[in-house]
Amino acid sequence: MKHVKCMVDKEYLIAEIDDKLFGSFIEQMGRAVYTGIYEPGHPLADEQGFRKDVLELVKQLYIPIVRYPGGNFVSGYNWTDGIGPKENRPTRLDLAWLSVERNEFGIDEFVDWCKKAGTEVMAAVNLGTGTPQEAGYMLEYCNHTSGTYWSDLRRKNGHPDPHNIKIWCLGNEMDGPWQIGAMNAEDYGKKARETAKIMKWVDPSVELVTCGSSSPLMPTYPEWDRVVLEHTYEHVDYLSLHRYYENEGNVEDFLASFVDMNDFIKTVASTADYVKAKTRSKKTLKLSFDEWNIWYQKKQTRFPWEVAPPILEDNYSLLDALVFGGMLCTLLNNADRVKMACLAQLVNVIAPIFTQMGGKAIKQAIYYPFQQVSLYGRGKAIQTQIACPKFESNLYGEAPVIQSAATYNEEACSLTLFVLNCDKEDVELTLDLRSFQEVRGIEHMIMDGQDLEAKNSFDEPDKVVPRIASMIEHGDKVRNVVIPKLSWNVLRFSTNGDNR
Ligand code: AHR
Repeated sequence: MKHVKCMVDKEYLIAEIDDKLFGSFIEQMGRAVYTGIYEPGHPLADEQGFRKDVLELVKQLYIPIVRYPGGNFVSGYNWTDGIGPKENRPTRLDLAWLSVERNEFGIDEFVDWCKKAGTEVMAAVNLGTGTPQEAGYMLEYCNHTSGTYWSDLRRKNGHPDPHNIKIWCLGNEMDGPWQIGAMNAEDYGKKARETAKIMKWVDPSVELVTCGSSSPLMPTYPEWDRVVLEHTYEHVDYLSLHRYYENEGNVEDFLASFVDMNDFIKTVASTADYVKAKTRSKKTLKLSFDEWNIWYQKKQTRFPWEVAPPILEDNYSLLDALVFGGMLCTLLNNADRVKMACLAQLVNVIAPIFTQMGGKAIKQAIYYPFQQVSLYGRGKAIQTQIACPKFESNLYGEAPVIQSAATYNEEACSLTLFVLNCDKEDVELTLDLRSFQEVRGIEHMIMDGQDLEAKNSFDEPDKVVPRIASMIEHGDKVRNVVIPKLSWNVLRFSTNGDNR
Protein backbone atom coordinates (compact mmCIF):
# COMPACT_ATOMS: atom_id res chain seq x y z
CA MET A 1 0.00 0.00 0.00
CA LYS A 2 1.31 3.47 -0.82
CA HIS A 3 1.56 6.03 1.97
CA VAL A 4 0.73 9.66 1.42
CA LYS A 5 1.05 12.54 3.87
CA CYS A 6 -1.50 15.31 3.68
CA MET A 7 -1.48 18.39 5.86
CA VAL A 8 -4.42 20.77 6.00
CA ASP A 9 -3.57 23.97 7.84
CA LYS A 10 -6.37 26.48 8.13
CA GLU A 11 -3.89 29.36 7.78
CA TYR A 12 -3.00 28.26 4.23
CA LEU A 13 -5.96 29.96 2.69
CA ILE A 14 -6.48 29.89 -1.07
CA ALA A 15 -9.59 32.10 -1.05
CA GLU A 16 -13.16 32.47 0.07
CA ILE A 17 -15.07 30.26 -2.32
CA ASP A 18 -17.59 32.14 -4.41
CA ASP A 19 -20.88 30.21 -4.31
CA LYS A 20 -21.12 30.74 -8.07
CA LEU A 21 -18.45 28.08 -8.46
CA PHE A 22 -21.31 25.57 -8.33
CA GLY A 23 -23.30 26.92 -11.27
CA SER A 24 -24.70 24.92 -14.15
CA PHE A 25 -26.04 25.37 -17.65
CA ILE A 26 -29.27 24.78 -19.55
CA GLU A 27 -28.94 25.23 -23.29
CA GLN A 28 -32.04 25.42 -25.44
CA MET A 29 -31.06 22.29 -27.34
CA GLY A 30 -31.75 18.57 -27.44
CA ARG A 31 -33.96 17.55 -24.53
CA ALA A 32 -32.49 19.95 -21.96
CA VAL A 33 -35.54 22.21 -21.98
CA TYR A 34 -38.22 20.22 -23.81
CA THR A 35 -38.92 16.95 -21.94
CA GLY A 36 -36.11 17.90 -19.56
CA ILE A 37 -37.07 20.80 -17.33
CA TYR A 38 -40.26 21.61 -19.27
CA GLU A 39 -42.84 19.06 -20.30
CA PRO A 40 -46.46 20.17 -20.18
CA GLY A 41 -48.58 17.05 -20.06
CA HIS A 42 -46.10 15.11 -17.95
CA PRO A 43 -47.90 13.66 -14.90
CA LEU A 44 -45.56 15.65 -12.64
CA ALA A 45 -45.68 18.93 -14.55
CA ASP A 46 -46.82 22.01 -12.65
CA GLU A 47 -49.19 24.66 -13.99
CA GLN A 48 -46.35 26.18 -16.08
CA GLY A 49 -45.31 22.83 -17.52
CA PHE A 50 -42.17 22.54 -15.35
CA ARG A 51 -41.38 18.99 -14.28
CA LYS A 52 -41.56 18.86 -10.49
CA ASP A 53 -39.50 15.65 -10.31
CA VAL A 54 -36.67 17.39 -12.19
CA LEU A 55 -37.01 20.54 -10.08
CA GLU A 56 -36.58 18.39 -6.98
CA LEU A 57 -33.38 16.80 -8.30
CA VAL A 58 -32.06 20.20 -9.36
CA LYS A 59 -32.77 21.71 -5.92
CA GLN A 60 -30.77 18.96 -4.26
CA LEU A 61 -27.69 20.12 -6.18
CA TYR A 62 -27.73 23.56 -4.47
CA ILE A 63 -26.92 25.35 -7.72
CA PRO A 64 -26.65 29.14 -7.30
CA ILE A 65 -26.74 30.16 -10.96
CA VAL A 66 -27.71 28.61 -14.33
CA ARG A 67 -26.49 29.81 -17.71
CA TYR A 68 -29.09 30.10 -20.52
CA PRO A 69 -29.95 29.83 -23.47
CA GLY A 70 -26.57 28.76 -24.90
CA GLY A 71 -24.07 27.60 -25.81
CA ASN A 72 -23.91 27.39 -29.57
CA PHE A 73 -27.67 27.88 -29.74
CA VAL A 74 -27.46 31.50 -28.64
CA SER A 75 -25.39 32.53 -31.67
CA GLY A 76 -28.35 32.19 -34.03
CA TYR A 77 -31.12 32.94 -31.54
CA ASN A 78 -33.47 35.88 -31.69
CA TRP A 79 -34.53 36.24 -28.06
CA THR A 80 -37.76 38.03 -29.03
CA ASP A 81 -38.96 34.76 -30.64
CA GLY A 82 -39.31 33.39 -27.10
CA ILE A 83 -41.46 36.09 -25.49
CA GLY A 84 -45.16 36.94 -25.57
CA PRO A 85 -48.19 34.72 -26.13
CA LYS A 86 -47.00 31.22 -26.98
CA GLU A 87 -49.43 30.84 -29.88
CA ASN A 88 -47.76 33.80 -31.63
CA ARG A 89 -44.20 32.57 -31.27
CA PRO A 90 -42.49 31.45 -34.49
CA THR A 91 -41.13 28.02 -35.27
CA ARG A 92 -37.55 28.33 -36.53
CA LEU A 93 -34.67 26.23 -37.74
CA ASP A 94 -31.95 26.04 -35.09
CA LEU A 95 -28.78 25.97 -37.17
CA ALA A 96 -26.50 25.27 -34.21
CA TRP A 97 -27.99 21.84 -33.58
CA LEU A 98 -29.92 21.32 -36.84
CA SER A 99 -33.19 21.07 -34.94
CA VAL A 100 -36.58 22.69 -35.09
CA GLU A 101 -37.21 25.24 -32.34
CA ARG A 102 -40.83 26.00 -31.51
CA ASN A 103 -40.02 28.69 -28.96
CA GLU A 104 -42.55 27.50 -26.41
CA PHE A 105 -39.94 28.33 -23.81
CA GLY A 106 -37.98 31.59 -23.60
CA ILE A 107 -36.33 33.96 -21.18
CA ASP A 108 -39.48 34.70 -19.15
CA GLU A 109 -40.17 31.00 -18.64
CA PHE A 110 -36.53 30.44 -17.71
CA VAL A 111 -36.63 33.19 -15.10
CA ASP A 112 -39.78 31.62 -13.61
CA TRP A 113 -38.18 28.17 -13.64
CA CYS A 114 -35.06 29.50 -11.88
CA LYS A 115 -37.20 31.02 -9.13
CA LYS A 116 -38.82 27.65 -8.56
CA ALA A 117 -35.42 25.93 -8.62
CA GLY A 118 -34.01 28.42 -6.09
CA THR A 119 -31.31 29.63 -8.44
CA GLU A 120 -30.27 32.74 -10.39
CA VAL A 121 -30.11 33.31 -14.14
CA MET A 122 -26.88 33.90 -16.06
CA ALA A 123 -28.06 35.06 -19.48
CA ALA A 124 -26.15 34.98 -22.75
CA VAL A 125 -26.67 37.44 -25.61
CA ASN A 126 -26.28 36.56 -29.27
CA LEU A 127 -23.06 38.00 -30.70
CA GLY A 128 -23.08 35.66 -33.71
CA THR A 129 -25.99 36.91 -35.83
CA GLY A 130 -27.09 39.36 -33.14
CA THR A 131 -26.10 42.98 -32.77
CA PRO A 132 -24.90 45.04 -29.79
CA GLN A 133 -28.18 46.94 -29.94
CA GLU A 134 -30.28 43.76 -29.71
CA ALA A 135 -28.24 42.72 -26.68
CA GLY A 136 -29.03 46.09 -25.10
CA TYR A 137 -32.73 45.62 -25.86
CA MET A 138 -32.74 42.22 -24.21
CA LEU A 139 -31.15 43.64 -21.09
CA GLU A 140 -33.62 46.53 -21.09
CA TYR A 141 -36.50 44.03 -21.42
CA CYS A 142 -35.18 42.02 -18.51
CA ASN A 143 -33.86 44.61 -16.06
CA HIS A 144 -35.39 48.02 -16.72
CA THR A 145 -38.29 48.72 -14.38
CA SER A 146 -40.85 50.36 -16.67
CA GLY A 147 -41.73 53.26 -18.93
CA THR A 148 -39.88 52.14 -22.07
CA TYR A 149 -40.93 49.99 -25.01
CA TRP A 150 -38.97 46.92 -23.88
CA SER A 151 -39.62 47.13 -20.15
CA ASP A 152 -43.33 47.73 -20.72
CA LEU A 153 -43.41 44.76 -23.07
CA ARG A 154 -42.07 42.56 -20.27
CA ARG A 155 -44.77 43.90 -17.97
CA LYS A 156 -47.41 43.23 -20.62
CA ASN A 157 -46.02 39.69 -20.89
CA GLY A 158 -46.88 39.03 -17.26
CA HIS A 159 -43.72 40.11 -15.43
CA PRO A 160 -44.35 43.44 -13.69
CA ASP A 161 -41.11 43.25 -11.73
CA PRO A 162 -37.77 43.38 -13.51
CA HIS A 163 -35.93 40.07 -13.77
CA ASN A 164 -32.76 41.69 -12.41
CA ILE A 165 -30.39 39.33 -14.18
CA LYS A 166 -26.95 40.27 -12.90
CA ILE A 167 -24.56 38.22 -15.02
CA TRP A 168 -24.46 38.25 -18.82
CA CYS A 169 -22.28 36.39 -21.32
CA LEU A 170 -21.15 38.34 -24.38
CA GLY A 171 -21.79 35.56 -26.88
CA ASN A 172 -20.45 32.03 -26.83
CA GLU A 173 -17.25 30.39 -28.17
CA MET A 174 -16.89 33.01 -30.87
CA ASP A 175 -13.50 31.59 -31.95
CA GLY A 176 -14.99 28.23 -32.96
CA PRO A 177 -15.48 27.61 -36.71
CA TRP A 178 -18.64 25.69 -35.70
CA GLN A 179 -20.12 28.83 -34.17
CA ILE A 180 -22.79 30.71 -36.10
CA GLY A 181 -21.12 34.02 -36.94
CA ALA A 182 -17.64 32.97 -35.74
CA MET A 183 -15.01 35.67 -36.06
CA ASN A 184 -11.42 36.48 -35.35
CA ALA A 185 -10.24 37.86 -32.03
CA GLU A 186 -9.99 41.46 -33.25
CA ASP A 187 -13.53 41.49 -34.59
CA TYR A 188 -14.99 39.76 -31.57
CA GLY A 189 -13.03 41.96 -29.17
CA LYS A 190 -14.45 45.10 -30.77
CA LYS A 191 -17.99 43.75 -30.96
CA ALA A 192 -17.87 42.54 -27.37
CA ARG A 193 -16.53 45.90 -26.19
CA GLU A 194 -19.26 47.88 -27.97
CA THR A 195 -21.91 45.50 -26.64
CA ALA A 196 -20.48 45.81 -23.13
CA LYS A 197 -20.65 49.61 -23.30
CA ILE A 198 -24.32 49.53 -24.29
CA MET A 199 -25.18 46.94 -21.65
CA LYS A 200 -23.45 48.80 -18.83
CA TRP A 201 -25.18 52.02 -19.89
CA VAL A 202 -28.54 50.24 -19.77
CA ASP A 203 -27.80 48.71 -16.36
CA PRO A 204 -24.47 49.57 -14.68
CA SER A 205 -25.03 46.89 -12.04
CA VAL A 206 -24.58 43.97 -14.43
CA GLU A 207 -21.42 41.90 -14.67
CA LEU A 208 -20.21 40.76 -18.07
CA VAL A 209 -18.36 37.68 -19.24
CA THR A 210 -16.27 37.93 -22.39
CA CYS A 211 -15.49 34.83 -24.45
CA GLY A 212 -12.10 33.28 -23.94
CA SER A 213 -10.83 30.48 -26.18
CA SER A 214 -13.45 27.79 -26.53
CA SER A 215 -10.84 25.22 -25.51
CA PRO A 216 -7.09 25.06 -24.90
CA LEU A 217 -6.99 22.75 -27.94
CA MET A 218 -7.80 25.63 -30.26
CA PRO A 219 -4.85 26.69 -32.46
CA THR A 220 -5.56 30.31 -31.52
CA TYR A 221 -5.29 29.63 -27.76
CA PRO A 222 -4.16 31.63 -25.77
CA GLU A 223 -3.53 34.42 -28.29
CA TRP A 224 -7.28 34.81 -28.76
CA ASP A 225 -7.68 35.58 -25.06
CA ARG A 226 -4.92 38.21 -25.14
CA VAL A 227 -6.32 40.03 -28.17
CA VAL A 228 -9.92 39.92 -26.93
CA LEU A 229 -8.91 41.23 -23.52
CA GLU A 230 -6.89 44.05 -25.02
CA HIS A 231 -10.16 45.31 -26.49
CA THR A 232 -12.45 44.51 -23.58
CA TYR A 233 -10.46 44.50 -20.33
CA GLU A 234 -11.94 47.58 -18.71
CA HIS A 235 -15.48 46.81 -19.86
CA VAL A 236 -15.89 43.26 -18.60
CA ASP A 237 -15.69 41.40 -15.31
CA TYR A 238 -14.99 37.80 -16.27
CA LEU A 239 -13.18 35.87 -18.98
CA SER A 240 -14.73 32.51 -19.90
CA LEU A 241 -13.02 29.12 -20.04
CA HIS A 242 -14.52 25.98 -21.56
CA ARG A 243 -13.10 22.47 -21.38
CA TYR A 244 -14.54 18.97 -21.76
CA TYR A 245 -12.61 15.73 -21.20
CA GLU A 246 -13.28 12.20 -22.34
CA ASN A 247 -11.89 8.72 -21.88
CA GLU A 248 -9.97 8.09 -25.07
CA GLY A 249 -9.06 4.55 -23.96
CA ASN A 250 -6.16 5.24 -21.60
CA VAL A 251 -7.40 5.33 -18.02
CA GLU A 252 -4.24 7.06 -16.69
CA ASP A 253 -4.67 9.89 -19.18
CA PHE A 254 -8.31 10.26 -18.32
CA LEU A 255 -7.67 10.27 -14.57
CA ALA A 256 -5.00 12.95 -15.04
CA SER A 257 -7.50 15.37 -16.63
CA PHE A 258 -7.36 17.49 -13.49
CA VAL A 259 -3.69 18.30 -14.19
CA ASP A 260 -4.56 19.67 -17.59
CA MET A 261 -7.52 21.61 -16.24
CA ASN A 262 -5.23 23.21 -13.66
CA ASP A 263 -2.66 24.17 -16.33
CA PHE A 264 -5.43 25.65 -18.43
CA ILE A 265 -6.66 27.86 -15.59
CA LYS A 266 -3.13 29.03 -14.74
CA THR A 267 -2.39 29.92 -18.38
CA VAL A 268 -5.62 31.87 -18.82
CA ALA A 269 -5.04 33.70 -15.52
CA SER A 270 -1.50 34.61 -16.68
CA THR A 271 -2.82 35.84 -20.02
CA ALA A 272 -5.37 38.02 -18.25
CA ASP A 273 -2.69 39.34 -15.91
CA TYR A 274 -0.44 40.16 -18.86
CA VAL A 275 -3.22 42.31 -20.32
CA LYS A 276 -3.81 43.85 -16.90
CA ALA A 277 -0.17 44.94 -16.86
CA LYS A 278 -0.17 46.04 -20.48
CA THR A 279 -3.28 48.16 -20.07
CA ARG A 280 -2.06 49.49 -16.68
CA SER A 281 -5.32 48.33 -15.15
CA LYS A 282 -5.94 48.17 -11.42
CA LYS A 283 -8.54 45.45 -11.85
CA THR A 284 -7.82 41.72 -11.67
CA LEU A 285 -10.11 39.85 -14.01
CA LYS A 286 -12.23 37.03 -12.62
CA LEU A 287 -12.40 33.74 -14.47
CA SER A 288 -15.68 32.06 -15.34
CA PHE A 289 -15.21 28.35 -16.13
CA ASP A 290 -18.67 28.36 -17.62
CA GLU A 291 -18.54 25.04 -19.46
CA TRP A 292 -16.83 22.02 -17.95
CA ASN A 293 -17.65 18.35 -17.87
CA ILE A 294 -16.94 15.01 -19.46
CA TRP A 295 -18.37 14.72 -22.95
CA TYR A 296 -18.18 11.79 -25.36
CA GLN A 297 -20.65 12.34 -28.19
CA LYS A 298 -18.87 15.37 -29.62
CA LYS A 299 -19.64 14.34 -33.16
CA GLN A 300 -23.25 15.20 -33.45
CA THR A 301 -25.59 12.46 -34.60
CA ARG A 302 -27.75 14.21 -37.09
CA PHE A 303 -31.48 14.15 -36.37
CA PRO A 304 -32.40 16.52 -39.19
CA TRP A 305 -35.01 19.03 -38.20
CA GLU A 306 -36.57 17.25 -35.27
CA VAL A 307 -38.06 19.06 -32.31
CA ALA A 308 -36.00 18.36 -29.16
CA PRO A 309 -33.94 15.48 -30.58
CA PRO A 310 -32.09 13.23 -28.10
CA ILE A 311 -28.63 14.64 -28.81
CA LEU A 312 -25.51 14.59 -26.60
CA GLU A 313 -27.19 12.26 -24.10
CA ASP A 314 -24.07 10.82 -22.51
CA ASN A 315 -24.53 8.12 -19.88
CA TYR A 316 -21.85 8.51 -17.22
CA SER A 317 -19.88 5.73 -15.56
CA LEU A 318 -18.24 5.33 -12.18
CA LEU A 319 -14.90 6.16 -13.83
CA ASP A 320 -16.42 9.36 -15.21
CA ALA A 321 -17.58 10.26 -11.69
CA LEU A 322 -14.02 9.80 -10.37
CA VAL A 323 -12.47 11.99 -13.06
CA PHE A 324 -15.24 14.52 -12.52
CA GLY A 325 -14.40 14.62 -8.79
CA GLY A 326 -10.76 15.38 -9.67
CA MET A 327 -11.92 18.31 -11.79
CA LEU A 328 -14.07 19.65 -8.94
CA CYS A 329 -10.96 19.63 -6.71
CA THR A 330 -9.13 21.68 -9.35
CA LEU A 331 -11.91 24.26 -9.35
CA LEU A 332 -11.75 24.53 -5.55
CA ASN A 333 -7.96 24.79 -5.61
CA ASN A 334 -8.24 27.72 -8.02
CA ALA A 335 -10.97 29.50 -6.08
CA ASP A 336 -8.78 32.61 -5.90
CA ARG A 337 -9.24 33.16 -9.67
CA VAL A 338 -12.18 31.03 -10.74
CA LYS A 339 -15.11 32.92 -9.27
CA MET A 340 -17.80 31.26 -11.31
CA ALA A 341 -18.16 27.89 -13.02
CA CYS A 342 -20.98 26.12 -14.81
CA LEU A 343 -21.27 22.37 -15.04
CA ALA A 344 -22.32 21.84 -18.65
CA GLN A 345 -25.00 20.87 -18.65
CA LEU A 346 -27.80 20.12 -16.17
CA VAL A 347 -30.54 17.96 -17.70
CA ASN A 348 -30.30 15.30 -20.47
CA VAL A 349 -27.62 17.04 -22.57
CA ILE A 350 -24.25 15.88 -21.08
CA ALA A 351 -25.91 16.12 -17.72
CA PRO A 352 -26.13 14.80 -14.16
CA ILE A 353 -29.94 14.45 -14.47
CA PHE A 354 -31.52 12.22 -17.07
CA THR A 355 -35.23 12.05 -17.91
CA GLN A 356 -37.64 9.89 -19.87
CA MET A 357 -40.29 11.71 -21.84
CA GLY A 358 -43.49 11.12 -19.87
CA GLY A 359 -41.53 9.01 -17.39
CA LYS A 360 -38.91 9.08 -14.70
CA ALA A 361 -35.95 11.29 -13.87
CA ILE A 362 -32.75 9.72 -12.52
CA LYS A 363 -29.39 10.78 -11.14
CA GLN A 364 -26.36 9.92 -13.23
CA ALA A 365 -23.07 8.89 -11.56
CA ILE A 366 -21.63 12.43 -11.83
CA TYR A 367 -24.62 13.80 -9.93
CA TYR A 368 -23.12 12.64 -6.63
CA PRO A 369 -19.66 14.27 -6.61
CA PHE A 370 -21.25 17.50 -7.82
CA GLN A 371 -23.84 17.39 -5.06
CA GLN A 372 -21.24 16.61 -2.40
CA VAL A 373 -18.88 19.40 -3.42
CA SER A 374 -21.72 21.88 -3.89
CA LEU A 375 -23.04 21.04 -0.43
CA TYR A 376 -19.80 20.71 1.54
CA GLY A 377 -17.38 22.75 -0.57
CA ARG A 378 -18.50 26.15 0.70
CA GLY A 379 -16.57 28.57 2.86
CA LYS A 380 -12.80 28.83 2.50
CA ALA A 381 -10.66 26.82 0.11
CA ILE A 382 -7.58 25.64 2.02
CA GLN A 383 -4.42 24.32 0.38
CA THR A 384 -3.75 20.64 0.95
CA GLN A 385 -0.01 20.06 1.36
CA ILE A 386 0.54 16.62 -0.11
CA ALA A 387 3.66 14.46 -0.24
CA CYS A 388 2.64 11.99 -2.84
CA PRO A 389 4.02 9.57 -5.46
CA LYS A 390 3.31 10.44 -9.08
CA PHE A 391 2.08 8.50 -12.08
CA GLU A 392 2.84 9.13 -15.71
CA SER A 393 0.11 10.04 -18.18
CA ASN A 394 0.84 10.26 -21.89
CA LEU A 395 -1.32 13.29 -22.49
CA TYR A 396 -0.70 15.44 -19.44
CA GLY A 397 2.65 14.30 -18.04
CA GLU A 398 3.19 13.55 -14.35
CA ALA A 399 0.21 13.55 -12.05
CA PRO A 400 -0.01 12.95 -8.29
CA VAL A 401 -1.75 9.66 -7.42
CA ILE A 402 -3.88 11.62 -4.97
CA GLN A 403 -5.79 14.68 -6.08
CA SER A 404 -7.33 16.59 -3.19
CA ALA A 405 -9.00 19.78 -2.04
CA ALA A 406 -10.03 21.04 1.38
CA THR A 407 -12.74 23.45 2.44
CA TYR A 408 -13.28 25.00 5.83
CA ASN A 409 -16.49 26.59 6.92
CA GLU A 410 -15.67 28.44 10.11
CA GLU A 411 -19.25 29.36 10.93
CA ALA A 412 -20.51 25.84 10.52
CA CYS A 413 -17.36 24.48 12.24
CA SER A 414 -16.88 22.04 9.42
CA LEU A 415 -13.87 20.88 7.51
CA THR A 416 -14.22 18.74 4.38
CA LEU A 417 -11.55 16.96 2.45
CA PHE A 418 -12.21 15.78 -1.11
CA VAL A 419 -9.87 13.05 -2.32
CA LEU A 420 -9.49 11.21 -5.61
CA ASN A 421 -7.27 8.13 -5.53
CA CYS A 422 -5.95 7.49 -9.05
CA ASP A 423 -3.91 4.48 -7.93
CA LYS A 424 -4.82 0.87 -8.64
CA GLU A 425 -4.08 0.10 -4.98
CA ASP A 426 -5.44 1.41 -1.71
CA VAL A 427 -3.49 4.36 -0.31
CA GLU A 428 -2.94 5.06 3.36
CA LEU A 429 -3.41 8.77 3.88
CA THR A 430 -1.84 10.30 6.98
CA LEU A 431 -3.90 13.37 7.63
CA ASP A 432 -2.39 16.14 9.68
CA LEU A 433 -5.09 18.47 10.99
CA ARG A 434 -3.12 19.99 13.87
CA SER A 435 -4.01 23.57 13.05
CA PHE A 436 -7.60 22.94 14.12
CA GLN A 437 -8.58 23.23 17.77
CA GLU A 438 -10.55 20.05 17.77
CA VAL A 439 -11.46 17.60 15.04
CA ARG A 440 -14.03 14.87 15.06
CA GLY A 441 -14.86 12.74 12.06
CA ILE A 442 -18.44 12.95 10.85
CA GLU A 443 -18.44 10.69 7.83
CA HIS A 444 -16.39 9.23 5.03
CA MET A 445 -18.33 8.86 1.77
CA ILE A 446 -16.78 6.80 -1.00
CA MET A 447 -17.55 6.12 -4.64
CA ASP A 448 -15.67 3.05 -5.86
CA GLY A 449 -16.36 -0.40 -7.25
CA GLN A 450 -15.08 -3.33 -9.27
CA ASP A 451 -16.74 -2.20 -12.45
CA LEU A 452 -15.48 1.22 -13.46
CA GLU A 453 -17.86 1.17 -16.40
CA ALA A 454 -20.96 0.74 -14.18
CA LYS A 455 -23.65 3.30 -15.03
CA ASN A 456 -27.04 4.25 -13.69
CA SER A 457 -30.02 3.58 -15.92
CA PHE A 458 -33.79 3.75 -15.68
CA ASP A 459 -33.78 0.02 -14.81
CA GLU A 460 -30.94 0.33 -12.30
CA PRO A 461 -30.98 3.96 -11.13
CA ASP A 462 -28.88 3.28 -8.02
CA LYS A 463 -26.10 1.18 -9.48
CA VAL A 464 -23.50 3.92 -8.93
CA VAL A 465 -24.02 5.77 -5.66
CA PRO A 466 -21.72 6.81 -2.81
CA ARG A 467 -21.36 4.47 0.16
CA ILE A 468 -20.59 5.41 3.75
CA ALA A 469 -17.42 3.88 5.22
CA SER A 470 -17.10 3.56 8.96
CA MET A 471 -14.90 6.28 10.41
CA ILE A 472 -13.16 5.23 13.60
CA GLU A 473 -13.41 8.30 15.82
CA HIS A 474 -10.66 9.02 18.30
CA GLY A 475 -10.37 12.81 18.09
CA ASP A 476 -6.73 12.58 16.98
CA LYS A 477 -5.49 15.46 14.90
CA VAL A 478 -3.08 13.22 13.03
CA ARG A 479 -4.84 10.16 11.74
CA ASN A 480 -4.51 7.49 9.09
CA VAL A 481 -7.34 6.93 6.64
CA VAL A 482 -7.44 4.23 3.99
CA ILE A 483 -8.42 5.64 0.62
CA PRO A 484 -9.58 2.72 -1.54
CA LYS A 485 -8.04 2.13 -4.94
CA LEU A 486 -9.60 4.14 -7.77
CA SER A 487 -12.08 5.98 -5.60
CA TRP A 488 -13.66 9.36 -4.94
CA ASN A 489 -13.86 10.29 -1.26
CA VAL A 490 -15.47 12.95 0.89
CA LEU A 491 -14.13 13.14 4.46
CA ARG A 492 -16.14 15.37 6.73
CA PHE A 493 -15.00 16.65 10.11
CA SER A 494 -16.50 18.90 12.69
CA THR A 495 -14.01 21.33 14.16
CA ASN A 496 -15.76 22.07 17.45
CA GLY A 497 -16.48 18.59 18.66
CA ASP A 498 -20.07 18.82 17.48
CA ASN A 499 -20.38 15.92 15.07
CA ARG A 500 -23.98 16.36 14.05
O1 AHR B 1 -22.43 22.22 -24.05
C1 AHR B 1 -22.49 21.83 -25.38
C2 AHR B 1 -21.78 22.79 -26.33
O2 AHR B 1 -20.41 22.78 -26.03
C3 AHR B 1 -22.15 24.24 -26.19
O3 AHR B 1 -23.26 24.57 -26.96
C4 AHR B 1 -20.94 24.94 -26.72
O4 AHR B 1 -20.75 26.19 -26.13
C5 AHR B 1 -19.81 23.98 -26.44
O5 AHR B 1 -19.05 23.76 -27.57
